[in-house]
Order: sequence, then structure tokens, then C-alpha cells
Amino acid sequence: MRIICFTIASIILMNAGAFAQTKAGIEKRPFGKTTEGEPVDLYILTNANGMKTKIMTFGGIVTELWAPDRDGKLADVVLGHDNLKGYLDGHPYFGALVGRYANRIAKGKFTLDGKEYTLAVNNGPNALHGGKRGFDKVVWKVDKAEMTDKALVLQLSYVSKDGEEGYPGTLTSTVTYSVPLNSNEVRIDYSATTDKATPVNLTNHSYFNLAGHDKGDILGQELTINAEEYTLADDTLIPTGKISPVKGTPFDFTQSTPIGKRIGELKGEPAGYDLNYVLRPGKGFKLAARVFDPKSGRELKVFTTEPGIQFYSGNFLDGKDKGKGGAVYKKHAGFCLEAQHFPDSVNQKNFPPVILKPDAVYSQTTVYNFSIAAK
Ligand code: BGC
Repeated sequence: MRIICFTIASIILMNAGAFAQTKAGIEKRPFGKTTEGEPVDLYILTNANGMKTKIMTFGGIVTELWAPDRDGKLADVVLGHDNLKGYLDGHPYFGALVGRYANRIAKGKFTLDGKEYTLAVNNGPNALHGGKRGFDKVVWKVDKAEMTDKALVLQLSYVSKDGEEGYPGTLTSTVTYSVPLNSNEVRIDYSATTDKATPVNLTNHSYFNLAGHDKGDILGQELTINAEEYTLADDTLIPTGKISPVKGTPFDFTQSTPIGKRIGELKGEPAGYDLNYVLRPGKGFKLAARVFDPKSGRELKVFTTEPGIQFYSGNFLDGKDKGKGGAVYKKHAGFCLEAQHFPDSVNQKNFPPVILKPDAVYSQTTVYNFSIAAK
């Protein structure tokens, strides 16, 4: 009898807790040291609804993101590791800030103002996600960690030296993560300046699973992408320059469709989605994509200023990555929606330009908004 009473009481408490207002704030914790001995910190941003976002200074990585389901129950909806070692041992960009150039540059080469630049090739014949030691593998400086009357703000910065990973110019990047106190979203404002012309394309590479990071695959989650076209690519995922319509192909997500519905029709090894969508309108802040999980009721909306978004369905996850709490991340355990300029834009004249000049300021804003939906 006593056990039953205790159980009922805990259920009531749990439910009350799930809906109650939480004390909002930012907590800082040490998170270990890099192989070079640099200290890394973890920042825990908790908003008034109880949504928790954990971000570490190594790679500006979002390590955990706890969002409520339709019953108010929180689950961690991003893939990642429990500790710094898990990330230092190598991982497929879980939650990371990606730069100086997100996605691929063909053969790691481009010409700017008559000079040819050679980058490290780290993905087949191409350069991927900023090189061997991209912005995902450096320790970001914390400029600000504060709670305002509206939001929790964590501002990070990183100075990439002239010539780093083969890129010209000293590039100073600032990334501001902010979480509103009363709304479940993570806003990311990126800005950058340089002292020499250089390509810039910054993004965040979070892998989401709206059911929870350890809840199997994402194939039943329903995706809408606000794009009628995509950039056609070759076998090494370098755009051919052609912009193709999605209509009549398995890439068409103009209507909400389960991610797995047509995935079997895709070619490639391992097969799955890994392509850049051409968002409309190309300029300005707009809704780019929406994902809905029928099981939990969680809905994710992605808004961005960027002209493109890479939809990647976790094709290379193969169960070798032991994730948080021992979770095994198999193929399609998470999806990425990476707001970006188009891959290899630096070699494609008809794509929106990506060269930042010394007198200009690069900026991009992306918002990941969580809510509950009926369908
Ligand atoms: C790329 C994939 C790559 C993944 C992890 C995505 O942005 O498009 O091809 O496997 O990142 O590196």
C-alpha cells in the first residue's frame, strides 16, 4: 500500500514538475581539457519552461538539448557524447559549429583575385567542413554568458589566422547562441570580419532525433522543406552547377512526408539524403524546414537567412559511435538541417557569392524552434 501511495505521489509531482515554471539561468561547468591541455567549459542554458541547452566551448558544440513532448516530458533531442573525450576521439560533427567553409570545396581548390589556394583534402578528393582542424575542433572564447530580461545569451568568438587550413585572411568569427526565456528555441547569430578576401560559410551541424537521441531512427519523422529546387551534384557530392526541380523525385519535401517513405529509391553508398536545397526566397529570414514526430508530438521549425539548407539523413552513422548514456547511433539515428550557402560556391559563378571582403561583415541567423503539434 505504501509503495502504491509513493508511486501515485511521484507521478503527481513529476507531472507538476513538467509543467511548472523552472528557474531560468546559465550555469558554467568545467568539461575537461583538449589534448593540447586547453581547458574546455560547458554552459547550461535553462529557460523558464525547463528547456535545457548545453553548449561547450570546444567546437561551440551543442551537446544536449532537452525539449518537451506533448505531455511536457523532456527528452534530449540531439546526438552527441557524454564527455569531451568522446568528441576528441573523433565524431561526425555532432552539434558542432562548422567553418570557415561548411560543406565541400571541389578538390580543395579555388582561385581568388588571380591567386590559387589549396586546402587540405579530407573527404575523398574534396575539402569538407573547413578542413582537418575546422572550427568544430578549436576552443572558442566566451565573450558573454548572461541572462537578459528576454533570453539566455552565450556569445563565442574565434580568430582564425591568415593561412589556417589554407584559407586567406585573418577571420574573426562571433557566434551568439540565444535561448528566449519563455519560448523553446535556439537562435544562432553568426558574424565575421576579415583582413583579406576569403570565402565564409558558417553553420551548425546538430543531428536531431525528435523522439530522443537514443530512440532509434528518424525515418518516421515527417519533413517539409521550403524548396522546389536542389543543387544537382556528382558522385563526390560536388554541385554540377545545375539547379534541378524536386518535383517528381524522392527529394520533394514540399509537402510533409515521412523521411523514410522514399529513402529506398535513393542511390549512393550508403544511401540516404545528403543534398543542398535551394530555399525560396533566396534572401531574407524565412521558414526553411519543419519536422514533426508523430510519436512524441514534437515539432521543429528551422528559420534562416541563408539561401540553402543541407538535409543529411545520418547515412554514415554505422553504430560505431557510442553516444550519450551508451546509445548506439546506427544509420539514420539523426538528421541534420544545416543552413548554408551552397556547397562549392567558391567555384560556381551562378551561385550566390560567398567571398567576404575586408570592408564587409558576414552575417547569418538560424533559429531552431521547438513546439508541440497535433500533426
Ligand atoms: C555532409 C555529409 C557528411 C556529414 C558529416 C554533411 O554536411 O553533407 O556528406 O557526411 O556532413 O560529415
